[in-house]
Amino acid sequence: MPACVRVPKREGERVRADLASRGILDTTMKIRSEGQFLLIPILAGNHEGYDVTEADLEHSEQNPTDYREVLEIPDELRKDLPTSFDMIGDVAIIKLQDGLMPYRHRIGTALMTVNPSIRIVMTDSGVKGDLRVRELEPISGKGGPETVHKEFGVRMITDPSKVYFNPRLATERARVASLVEDGETIIDMFAGVAPFGLVICKIARPDKVYSIDLNPYAEGFARRNAELNRIGNIIPMTGDAAEVIKGLPDADRVIMNLPQTADSFLRDALSKTKVGGVIHLHKIIERSGLGDFVEKTKENAVSSGYGISIENTSELKTYSPTMSVYVLDIRRDS
Ligand SMILES: C[S@@+](CC[C@H](N)C(=O)[O-])C[C@H]1O[C@@H](n2cnc3c(N)ncnc32)[C@H](O)[C@@H]1O
Repeated sequence: MPACVRVPKREGERVRADLASRGILDTTMKIRSEGQFLLIPILAGNHEGYDVTEADLEHSEQNPTDYREVLEIPDELRKDLPTSFDMIGDVAIIKLQDGLMPYRHRIGTALMTVNPSIRIVMTDSGVKGDLRVRELEPISGKGGPETVHKEFGVRMITDPSKVYFNPRLATERARVASLVEDGETIIDMFAGVAPFGLVICKIARPDKVYSIDLNPYAEGFARRNAELNRIGNIIPMTGDAAEVIKGLPDADRVIMNLPQTADSFLRDALSKTKVGGVIHLHKIIERSGLGDFVEKTKENAVSSGYGISIENTSELKTYSPTMSVYVLDIRRDS
């Protein structure tokens, strides 16, 4: 069944137009009404923070919107074609297996043919190093990778060839923002171009969000983004979060979105979290090992002199056949 976003009817036209402008509205399917909501079909996993669900929708008679329908490649390779891709602003980013690489330009052209709002298509050969920057190659379209991505009415300038940016965290950013109480001091230890801070400041009323990143490009983009959205309480900083955090005031909330190694910084985060404050720790874990990880995290906190409780664990996305990225909401009790 097709994937769709479930949006309140009053938001329907704005969301439909936004999805269309980002090239991820599935126009092969009809929008369906369900009580006070509309089910709007989408092509990719980027959905502005609304619930994504599957629904039985009617087909509409339209031009093709699936690039595979207009693509000419040898039949034996069709099974390897990706069913999804990421949209960051007007930049489409697609991962291709080696066997498809000789056909990458055709694939890029096919994507642009069926999604007129895509300006440039790039292949992604994976993220590299501490800065988690993607290795990208343009395969179709024009211009460079710098773009403006929209999320919850926030505009985020980013360049995926210089700074890590994850368009698939929209729902998680909105969830964290919905938990923020007036006047909170927040530290985002691995902030990138500050998407968490921007969405938080748009939806909630924190006092300050300190947005740290090791990548010097991130601070520049975060400053431009704060200015673009007229947000005055984000403080972008460059450096190793374990060091920079030492000079900051104690926080009500700490965000740790570095799923490979965030847990190795937990002691630093706890040292700056007020008693009663919350840490959102992202971590890649074997799905069968979540319980063990939770227990080990508690033990490590105790041996560092902190009492914690884990108030929530949620799976954010699949990482491999056996592993997923989780977020743990950790409250400092003592
Ligand atoms: C997964 S990205 C998160 C980006 C951003 N939060 C988002 O939602 O798009 C992790 C970021 O942590 C940064 N980073 C890695 N090690 C760091 C460290 N020791 N201190 C501060 N930032 C670090 C990387 O440069 C990268 O931008």
